[in-house]
Amino acid sequence: MRAVDIIAKKRDGLSLTREEIDWFVNAYTKGDIPDYQAAALLMAICIRGMTREETVHLTLAMAHSGDVLNLAAALGGYAVDKHSSGGVGDKTTLVVLPLVAACGVPVAKMSGRGLGYSGGTLDKLEAIAGFNVNLSREQFLQLARDTGLVLAGQSADLAPADGKLYALRDVTATVPSLPLIASSIMSKKLAAGASGIVLDVKVGEGAFMGDLEGARLLAQTMVDIGVDAGRDVVALISDMNQPLGHAVGNSLEVKEAIETLRGGGPPDLREHCVEVAAHMLRLAGQGRRWSDLEDARIEASQRLGAGEGLAAFRRLAAAQGGDLSMVDDPDRLPRARIVEAVTADQSGYVARVSALGIGRAVFLLGAGRERKDSPIDLAVGVTVRVKVGDVIERGAAVAAIHANDEARLNECRETVAASLAYSSQPVPPLPLFYDTIYGH
Ligand code: URA
Repeated sequence: MRAVDIIAKKRDGLSLTREEIDWFVNAYTKGDIPDYQAAALLMAICIRGMTREETVHLTLAMAHSGDVLNLAAALGGYAVDKHSSGGVGDKTTLVVLPLVAACGVPVAKMSGRGLGYSGGTLDKLEAIAGFNVNLSREQFLQLARDTGLVLAGQSADLAPADGKLYALRDVTATVPSLPLIASSIMSKKLAAGASGIVLDVKVGEGAFMGDLEGARLLAQTMVDIGVDAGRDVVALISDMNQPLGHAVGNSLEVKEAIETLRGGGPPDLREHCVEVAAHMLRLAGQGRRWSDLEDARIEASQRLGAGEGLAAFRRLAAAQGGDLSMVDDPDRLPRARIVEAVTADQSGYVARVSALGIGRAVFLLGAGRERKDSPIDLAVGVTVRVKVGDVIERGAAVAAIHANDEARLNECRETVAASLAYSSQPVPPLPLFYDTIYGH
C-alpha cells in the first residue's frame, strides 16, 4: 500500500477499507509515514468525513496501536468508565469515581491534563500535596485489584496513535472533525479496557460542541463506535453555557468536590454527579442490580449524603500518597494571596454566567496551560455564586476572583464582569441535561 493512494482516495470522497486504515495508522505510529502525509489525510477526513464503518475502524486501529488493558479482569469482571468532553468547572470525576466505588462498584480511571482554560483532573488532584497520578501500568492495575479505586494519568503506551495524531491535529486545524474527535476519545476508552462507558458530552458556549445538533451527532457517533466494539455505552448531553458548580480553578474545584462528597456543595454539581454515577451503576449492574435508573439515583444520592463518597475519596488519596489533612481541611489546599469580590451592578435576575468568559478569566489568572509543558497555578480561579435565573440584589457579592498577582487580577477583572449579565425580567434557569442516548 502507498500512503499517497489512501490520501487521494479520501480526498476524492471515497470510503477507506479497514485494511487501508489499519495500515496507515500502524505505519504512522511506527514513524514510517511522515507527518505531512498524515496531516494531508487528516485534512481530507476533516473535509470529506467518514462513514460509521470507517470511524469504527479508525477507532479500533488507534485503540490497538499500543497497550490494551484488561481492566475487566483486574476489577473482577466488569469495568465501568466515564468520560467528559470537557467543560468549565467540571470536577465531576473527583466526586463520581469515589461515589461509584462507595456503592460497591470498583472503578479505575485514566484521566488527562488540561490544555486550555483550567487544569484537567490530574492537575486538580495534584493540588492535594503528595497525590501521585504517575502510576506505572502495573501499579495502576495493582491498585485497581487491591482497592477497587484508582485515578491516574494515561500511560504513554495507551493509544499512542491518538497521541501522535492529536498533536498533529492541534497544529493543522483538524481538531473540529466529528469522526476524528469521536475516534480520538473512544480509542482511549477502548484501550483502557472499559466494558461500559458513560459519556458526558457537553454542549454550549464553553464546550467543544456549541449547539445541540452537533453534540447529539458527536454523542451518537461515540455510542455507535462503542456498540460496534462490543461495549455498553450511554451518552448524556449536558449544559456547558454556564460553569458547572461554583468553582473554576484547580484547588477551588477540589475544595468544592470535597464539599460535595461531604453531602453539601452546589445543587447543580450534586445533581449532575448523581446522574452520571447512576448511569455508571446501572451499566455495572448489568440488569441484575440497579436495573431501574431511579433506584441507582436514590442509592447514589443517599450514599453521597451520608458521606460515604468522602470516605472512598480519603481511601483513594491515602493509597496514592495524598496529604489527608488537606482532604479533611480543604482550607489547607493551595490558596491565592488575593481574593476580590465581584458585586452585581443591578437588581433583578441573572441572565448570563458565561462559561467561556469565566474560563478565559481563569486562564488569564494562570490556572490553565498554553502549551503542554506550561506551569500552572493551582491556587487561582474564580468562584461564581449565582446561576442563570437567580434573583439578585444590586451590590450583592456574585463572584470572587482568587489571584496571586495584581497584574493578572487587573487583566481578568473586566473579563469576569463581562461574563455576567442581568435582566429586570425573569429568566428561566438552564437545564442540566438535554438528552440521553443509549447504545446497549
Ligand atoms: N478530546 C480528545 O481526547 N480528543 C479530541 O479529539 C477532542 C477532545
